[in-house]
Amino acid sequence: MYLGKNSTAINWDQSYKNHNYTWTIEGPSPELVSLLCVEMIKPPGLILDIGCGLGNEAVFLSSLGYNVHAIDHSQEAINMCMSRHRGHPVTWRAESVTDVSLQDESVHFANDRGCFHVIPAHLRKEYVDEVYRVLKPNAALLIRGSLVTNDYWDEVSEETIDMYFDEDRFVRGPILPMKIFSETGGIKGNMVSIKKR
Ligand SMILES: C[S@@+](CC[C@H](N)C(=O)[O-])C[C@H]1O[C@@H](n2cnc3c(N)ncnc32)[C@H](O)[C@@H]1O
Repeated sequence: MYLGKNSTAINWDQSYKNHNYTWTIEGPSPELVSLLCVEMIKPPGLILDIGCGLGNEAVFLSSLGYNVHAIDHSQEAINMCMSRHRGHPVTWRAESVTDVSLQDESVHFANDRGCFHVIPAHLRKEYVDEVYRVLKPNAALLIRGSLVTNDYWDEVSEETIDMYFDEDRFVRGPILPMKIFSETGGIKGNMVSIKKR
């Protein structure tokens, strides 16, 4: 299914309705676990999960005692999260990363596994401005995205990250190659941790 660079919430709704979510993994990704280990963010800090999909990482974070605000543009994905993860105290919201219902400088950590690389180019600045608005100073955003640009994704690379996350507002870590695991094997990707100054 084409979910390319001009994708909308409706495309994603259709994917979730059709049970076409090959990007999902059960449980948290290893890189998220490692980053939390290094960052040592104390629960119950507020974590924003951006483009949470079926909510597996959000639920993992919540089970560690964090307050989790999990957002996805797709109402269908959020409906599935609410029914699959009943009882988990995650705040599920069908909202876009370009308009997050959180206060300024309230978020201790933001998690993005596969969302930034599907955000259309004309919305990327809004993504970055909104993440900047809600992050606390020195708080990190973890992004994982495709190594290459194709019909489905834009690459997460030094060039694309530096184009949007300006040095005046952010400090970027190294862009590290990794595999974005999924139920169907996964794709080659890059990950990067970016801190608000
Ligand atoms: C490749 S999926 C990754 C989902 C999940 N993070 C995971 O690892 O399984 C990308 C997700 O981003 C969501 N998304 C796309 N555009 C968005 C936007 N503007 N705001 C919030 N979520 C968005 C999609 O609905 C989809 O669930």
